[in-house]
Amino acid sequence: MSLDQNLDKILIIDFGSQFTQLIARRIRELRVFCEIISHKKIKNSIINKKTKGIILSGGPLNVYEINKYSFDEKILENNIPILGICFGHQILSKINGGRVKQSKHREFGLAKIYKRRSSLLTKNYFKREKFKKAWMSHADQVSKLPKNFQVVASSKNSKFAIVENKLKNFFGVQFHPEVTHTENGKKIISNFLFLICKIKKNWSSKDQKIKLIKEIKDQVGSKKVICALSGGVDSSVVAQLLNKAIGKKLYCIFVNTGLLRKNEEIQVVKTFKKRLKMNLIYVNAEKEFISKLNNVSNPEKKRKIIGNLFIKVFERYSKKIKNVKFLAQGTLYPDLIESKSVTGSQTSKIKSHHNVGGLPNKMKLELVEPLRFLFKDEVRKLGLELNLNKEIISRHPFPGPGLAIRMPGIITKNKIEILKEADDQFIRGLKEYGLYDKIWQAYAALLPVKTVGVMGDNRTYEYLCLLRAITSQDGMTADFYEFKKSFMQTISNRIVNSIRGINRVVYDITSKPPSTIELE
Ligand code: XMP
Repeated sequence: MSLDQNLDKILIIDFGSQFTQLIARRIRELRVFCEIISHKKIKNSIINKKTKGIILSGGPLNVYEINKYSFDEKILENNIPILGICFGHQILSKINGGRVKQSKHREFGLAKIYKRRSSLLTKNYFKREKFKKAWMSHADQVSKLPKNFQVVASSKNSKFAIVENKLKNFFGVQFHPEVTHTENGKKIISNFLFLICKIKKNWSSKDQKIKLIKEIKDQVGSKKVICALSGGVDSSVVAQLLNKAIGKKLYCIFVNTGLLRKNEEIQVVKTFKKRLKMNLIYVNAEKEFISKLNNVSNPEKKRKIIGNLFIKVFERYSKKIKNVKFLAQGTLYPDLIESKSVTGSQTSKIKSHHNVGGLPNKMKLELVEPLRFLFKDEVRKLGLELNLNKEIISRHPFPGPGLAIRMPGIITKNKIEILKEADDQFIRGLKEYGLYDKIWQAYAALLPVKTVGVMGDNRTYEYLCLLRAITSQDGMTADFYEFKKSFMQTISNRIVNSIRGINRVVYDITSKPPSTIELE
C-alpha cells in the first residue's frame, strides 16, 4: 500500500523498533515524504527511481536470528544511499562482511560520541565540540567493520558508533538520532536526506491538502458519506477535507453523550453548521447515556456501554440518510501501527482503537480514512491549511468515553455538572496564563471521596478534585507538568470557591508509565 507513487521518497524498513515512527516524523518535519514498510514485506521490486534513500530501523532482534529478520538483501545493491540505525547498523555491517556480537556493556541511555573523522553525515553535527550526547539502546554491537567501512565517531563502549562506506554511500549509527534526547540528532537525519540522498523538500500541508481532496473525490465520486464528528482535531479535519471535496454529499453526525466538556456541543454546532455550513445532524442522547450508565462503576463496563451505545445511536441516525455508501473516519498513522501494525513488523499491540469500530461491517459501508498516513502534528498543520480555527486545531485530546472515565465510581448528573465546571475553570486558567499550548493534555477529574473542609465558620464535606496536566510526544509516555505554586494556588482557590461540591484539590504527579493518562 503506497501513499504516493509520484513523489520522491525515503523508504524506512521497519524491523520493529519502538522508534520507527519517530524516524518518519523527523523526516516529515524536514518536509520530505517517507514511507514505512516492514522488513517482512519489502521486496526489491518495490524500489524504484523515486526511492532516493533507505533507512534500516532499529529493532528487538538479534542479527543472528536470521529466520526472524530475513529480508530481501538485494535491496542493498540498488546504488541507493542507506542509513542503518542501531539494529539496522548491525545488519548493514553483517551483510557486508562485518561481525556483530553481544556488547560487554549493554548501553542504555546517554553516551558521549567522539568525532574520529569528517563525514557528510556529520557535517555541522559536532560543530566545535569534541563530543555530542547521543541516546543508546542496545545489547549487541558491531565488533568488526566490513571492508571499505571507516569509523566516523566512537563512544566509550561502541568503537563503531558512526561508520561509513563512502564508495557505496552506506552509513551506520549505533545510537538513535531520531529521539529528542540525542543532541543535534536531526542534523544527522537532515544530512542524510539532503547531502547524501540529495532529495528535495516535497512534503507540505498545502501539498497534502490538494492531494487528499483529489483522492477523496476519486474514491467517493458522487456518493454520499457519513462521518461521526466529535469536535476533536482528527474528526474535524476529516470533515473539513470531505466538505471541501464533496460539499453537501457529506453528512456529519454529532452525538452529545452528556459526557462532553462544558459547552462543547454549542461550539461544535456553531463551527460546523453555522460557520462551515456543513450538513450537521445534532443528536442529543444525553438522557440515554446517563440512564444506561446508572449505577455502573467498573471502568471497562463504562467504556463498553458508552462504545456500544454510541454505535447504536450513530446507526439509528445514519439510517435516516438514504443511499449512503461511505463512512469517513479520522484514523491516523499511529492508530494503524498501534492496533494492528500496518507495517507487519513485530511492534507489540498497544491498545485497540476506538473510532466507530464495528460499524462498517454491519452497515456494509466502505471506509474513507484520509488521515491514515499522517501523524497528529501533520493533521494539525493540515487543519490550519483547511481554515479550521486554532481553537479546534490545538485542542487537547479528549477520550471517546469523555468525562465518564474522569469520574471513578458511579456517574450522576450532579457529579457531571460539578466536573464540567471544575474542568472549565482549569482549562480557562491554563489559557489565561499562556500554559495551554505548552501542555499536551490537561483535565480535571472528580474522585469518589468526600473530605472535610472549612469555609467561613462552616464545616464542609465535599468531593476531591484531581487535576492532571502532562507533557508528551504522542500519549504513549508522559510526564507531569511542573506548575508554579502561584498558578496552582489560583486554580485551587477558583475551583473551591466557585464550585459547590468540591472542597479540596490535588495534583497528579505520576508519569506514564506506570500510570496512564486517564484515570480509567
Ligand atoms: P491512556 O489513559 O491510555 O491515554 O494513557 C492515552 C491517550 O488516549 C486517550 N484515550 C482515548 N481516546 N478513546 C479515545 O478516543 C478512548 O477510549 C480513549 N482512552 C484514552 C487519552 O485521553 C490520552 O490522550
